[in-house]
Amino acid sequence: MTTTILKGTIVSAAAAGAPEITEGGYLVAEDGVITGVFPTLPERYTGAPVEDFGSCLILQTFADLHLHAPQYPMLGTGMDLTLLDWLNTYTFPAEARFADPDYARDVYRKLAAELISHGTTRVAMFSSLHTDATLILMEELERAGVTGYVGKVNMDRNAAPGVLEETTEESIRETERWLAECGRFSHVRPMLTPRFTPSCTDELMAWLGKTARERGLPIQSHLSENDREIEWVRQLHPDCTQYWETYAKFGLWNDRTLMAHCVWSDERERAAMKEAGVTVVHCPDSNVNVCSGTAPVRTMLQEGLKVALGSDIAGGDHLDMFDVTASAIRASKVRQMTDSARPAFLTVPEAWYLATSAGAAFFGEAPGFAPGNPLHAMVLSDDALPQSHALTGRERFERCVYRRQPGALRAVWSAGRKVYEAE
Ligand code: GUN
Ligand code: FE
Repeated sequence: MTTTILKGTIVSAAAAGAPEITEGGYLVAEDGVITGVFPTLPERYTGAPVEDFGSCLILQTFADLHLHAPQYPMLGTGMDLTLLDWLNTYTFPAEARFADPDYARDVYRKLAAELISHGTTRVAMFSSLHTDATLILMEELERAGVTGYVGKVNMDRNAAPGVLEETTEESIRETERWLAECGRFSHVRPMLTPRFTPSCTDELMAWLGKTARERGLPIQSHLSENDREIEWVRQLHPDCTQYWETYAKFGLWNDRTLMAHCVWSDERERAAMKEAGVTVVHCPDSNVNVCSGTAPVRTMLQEGLKVALGSDIAGGDHLDMFDVTASAIRASKVRQMTDSARPAFLTVPEAWYLATSAGAAFFGEAPGFAPGNPLHAMVLSDDALPQSHALTGRERFERCVYRRQPGALRAVWSAGRKVYEAE
């Protein structure tokens, strides 16, 4: 058996808004599975090697539950259009380049390395419609130590004919081919990914729903992001009262479904998410960048919905989930200032919980560094940052969301494996 023991100031987001902080504590894993956080090392581990990180913070790594891998090269560009024009003008041509496997290999290797070196070890990720590039993405994630779900995108209408679009028959055949290849991965698994309702014919949606059911596959898509998009969906599905019903009627709406954005989901749509156990993925940077709006996250939480965070690169301009966490807090403050009900904004520990434990729950983990969870942890140093007084562990934890020193991230473990070490 391999025992991993990390010593430092351990922050475990065991409950929303209530982190457990153990200074000089020990985070222990056996064969990559956490056995506990201990203030003193239990006798049974005497003699086992301890990696002592002094006063460094030892934190859970992030779960980024919505991002687009083929949009990584676009990061920071194309910020002058709203959603539908942004998709047509910038996004579809950028994704079309992934027909080239060499390009895909190069970009995806860089993406996987950047995720790990920023503490993201679990993802739910959109690829492009290309099967080969999707398999390359899965290989590169697995090699780097990023775990989670990847989806070959399905899109057989209203995209970019001749540039980025499949026929229904191609979409089904290529999804079958992709699924048949996925057995070779151990930490990256397939997730069905209809891009969004306007991109998929009823025939394709019905096939995806049937396939999800028959093969027990999870599902990810977009929901109620933007006003023009919502109106378009209404025209495409006059039989549906609301956007969510266009997924539900094809069997794509259950407790293994992730829906990104939900900016404009009203009480009825939110109730449908709660009832089905759908997880909302809040993407605050993207929602501002492509002028979608500000999602009512506090209301969703009060109503008991499952909410996690996503960078949504490259609608989002930050891959770093520390930044996305800060953006979620800011978005909730905007919501408080603009919503007549004055919903309370997210505290730092609450937003941290969404970025870590809430996302990890989608992969079956218990909140925080709970015994039984695979070890997903990162070590952060902050000793070079100036401070006006000796900060408490809690203050240091809250500061790290907004501010980190150069080279702050010292080491990262993913599913029990050390996958990053600062030089
Ligand atoms: N809706 C459909 N496709 C996309 C996409 O790539 N990004 C975002 N933000 N919304 C979408
Ligand atoms: Fe998206």
